[in-house]
Amino acid sequence: MSSGYLNQNQELEFLSALDSRAVSPLKFTYIGDSYHRWIDIAKKSREEMTIQFEENILKTESLPFILREAAHDTDTVNVVDFGCGDGMPMIPVLEYLLPSVRVRYIAVDISPKMIEAAKRTVSERFPGVEILSVLFDFEKGEVLQDILKLTKAPRTRNYFFLLGNTLGNFDNTDKVLSNLKLSMFPNDALVIGNQISNSLASQRFVEYYRTREVFDLVSSTLTGYGMRCSFKEYSVRWNDAKKQIEMFLTMGSDKRISLVGHDVEFEKGEELLMAVSKKFAEETIVQTFNDVGFRMDFFSVNKKKNVCIASISPTRYRS
Ligand SMILES: C[S@@+](CC[C@H](N)C(=O)[O-])C[C@H]1O[C@@H](n2cnc3c(N)ncnc32)[C@H](O)[C@@H]1O
Repeated sequence: MSSGYLNQNQELEFLSALDSRAVSPLKFTYIGDSYHRWIDIAKKSREEMTIQFEENILKTESLPFILREAAHDTDTVNVVDFGCGDGMPMIPVLEYLLPSVRVRYIAVDISPKMIEAAKRTVSERFPGVEILSVLFDFEKGEVLQDILKLTKAPRTRNYFFLLGNTLGNFDNTDKVLSNLKLSMFPNDALVIGNQISNSLASQRFVEYYRTREVFDLVSSTLTGYGMRCSFKEYSVRWNDAKKQIEMFLTMGSDKRISLVGHDVEFEKGEELLMAVSKKFAEETIVQTFNDVGFRMDFFSVNKKKNVCIASISPTRYRS
């Protein structure tokens, strides 16, 4: 059975991930109707003042440093929101910029529904702001020509954002950063908000992911394509070697999923990886940026030492 919300290439990618790696890519969960599950989780986290809230406070406090050059010799500031979600994290950014400069908001995401949600958030709060969007999968190494044209215009400043631990959801961090860098120039800044951790604190993170809401989100692509998944089959583990939380489905019975005319079978007891969430150590995240060819302009960590905000720029010179 196919519910058809992924396009054919995405279905093939899903099939290959399941069949050859026993992985259900998290990015597909945002494309179907389950996109709202993530929005609900983020909303709850903001209301209960947990991790999304922590990032928001740190980001807002950091804006005077990160955006200190924004209005200098500038007519337009492009705010490029990579992995825009519902756009809520951009509200303090636009509030900070708007009194002094014209802002263009560009939502970039794999999910048309997320893009719509972000556009709604920004247009309702800031009616005069120009809003554009680009449908894009960060795992594909493409240059975003439309963005390059806008960001290279004279008297323009460009701030790219990758917030909400989005970087931590990719298995291959270097590849995603390199892909984003393809659409940036040396004077552009990429602002990253991500969780950080030491091994002791990681247990607390495990509990955050061991909930019905998170299970419903991470299993939604499998259920959307007809596989029955039960909360009893769900487990969350800390992988110390990779410094990441891993979310698994352990098959309670033999199962089958059909995609683009192929069946993939799983035996009772087999494990399927549904999501990872990396918790970088401070020193490793800095090293990662450097390895990919970014220099660090700003780095800050909150008091609880579980969230960081970094502002980095492309450089030809590696240290
Ligand atoms: C964890 S949410 C963060 C949303 C928002 N930035 C925030 O801080 O609230 C991740 C976002 O990245 C998008 N995303 C995930 N994987 C992606 C990919 N491979 N390419 C493009 N967007 C992706 C999702 O659709 C979702 O909107």
